[in-house]
Amino acid sequence: MIDFDLASLPGSFYDDPYPTYRRLREQEPVKRLAGGGVFLTRHADLTRVYGDTATFSSDKRREFGAKYGETSRLFAHHTTSLVFNDAPYHTPVRKTILGAMIPRALAPLAPKLEALVERLLGRMEGAADGIADFAAAIPVEVIGDLLLVPDADRAPLRGWSLAILGALEPALSDDAFRRGEEALEQFHAYLKDLIAGRREHPGDPERDVLTRLLAAGLTDRELVENCVFLLNAGHETTTNLIGNALELFARFPQSRAGLDLRLGIEEVLRFESSNQLGNRLAVRDTEIGGVPIAEGTFVTLCIGAANRDPEAFEHPESFDVTRRPNPHLAFAAGPHQCAGMNLARMEAAIALDAFLKRFPRYALAEKPVRARRARFRGFASLPLRLR
Ligand code: HEM
Repeated sequence: MIDFDLASLPGSFYDDPYPTYRRLREQEPVKRLAGGGVFLTRHADLTRVYGDTATFSSDKRREFGAKYGETSRLFAHHTTSLVFNDAPYHTPVRKTILGAMIPRALAPLAPKLEALVERLLGRMEGAADGIADFAAAIPVEVIGDLLLVPDADRAPLRGWSLAILGALEPALSDDAFRRGEEALEQFHAYLKDLIAGRREHPGDPERDVLTRLLAAGLTDRELVENCVFLLNAGHETTTNLIGNALELFARFPQSRAGLDLRLGIEEVLRFESSNQLGNRLAVRDTEIGGVPIAEGTFVTLCIGAANRDPEAFEHPESFDVTRRPNPHLAFAAGPHQCAGMNLARMEAAIALDAFLKRFPRYALAEKPVRARRARFRGFASLPLRLR
């Protein structure tokens, strides 16, 4: 039996989880975990679970009640946002958000994003940190634009988001819990004022997600928690997509020759998925790949492993920017598939295209430092030599 405990992973796992994923996929693709849950690594199993919402629920009340306590802000937040709910509540909230994520609604964000990217690149000279100076500075502005958060209010958003999502890690320290609670307290206070102002002066419902959510008939709590989620969902994930792309294009410099960036971004998403783990709860007895799964089983879906499954991808361990088709699961699949994927792709395309044109010969200046998280894969810092 493979020794694998999500709650205490060795340091080497964070550097390179893929050998472990591979062993699990080959030997124990439906791995029973010490706490009673199962850990899935096959592409076909993830696709099935994501699609079968009658058997696998996104509702996290049981899990987060035990993890955070039912009176905590983290419990209230995570159990109210659309991503951790099932139909019927989930369906209209998703529809409301998706309406503002279609290409026609996103196109007006592009010119401001291009100008921001040019400003960031203009400040870089000789050397830079690909995360702090570039990748982390972009999503916060884009999501701020999406919800029309005034420019002057945006500084704390990234810190709040990191603290709230940090508390989702499989192993939760007291400190991470406290930081998550504090961030939510401040975030809630901020959003109360923003929402009151928007009620008085609504934005364009074709484009402004907050104005759309206001018209959707949500309770105040549902409104606030879905705004927090939206502001969080696109932060670290997209920062890591851009950061992981910069690292991979540097690690494999030949990938930059004649690069079709659209395909390249899909391969980055497959090869180093910024979101590595998802979860569902079995709400009736079932089986996965012939293994019986009892009602109440907590299921962890390993996107990072499924994206290197040889049953779904030829030469899955090769970073191949010409790969096509590329049915990766970086944005999950089924009724909860990422509602922001068009936005994430647009951000990455604009940022990386401008970066590669400005610094075509950039390279790693020294070993990048990984953010040691099992769920969100990316770098804390990425020192680059630009010319
Ligand atoms: C590279 C960037 C991103 C990645 C890898 C990513 C990944 C994911 C994944 C895997 C899910 C499914 C979670 C689950 O059900 O288990 C998800 C859901 C979601 N994402 Fe993203 N995401 C990214 C960017 C964004 C952006 C920019 C936004 C918008 C601001 C966004 C908004 C959402 C929303 C609203 C959901 C919930 C959808 C639902 O439950 O119906 N995401 N994302």
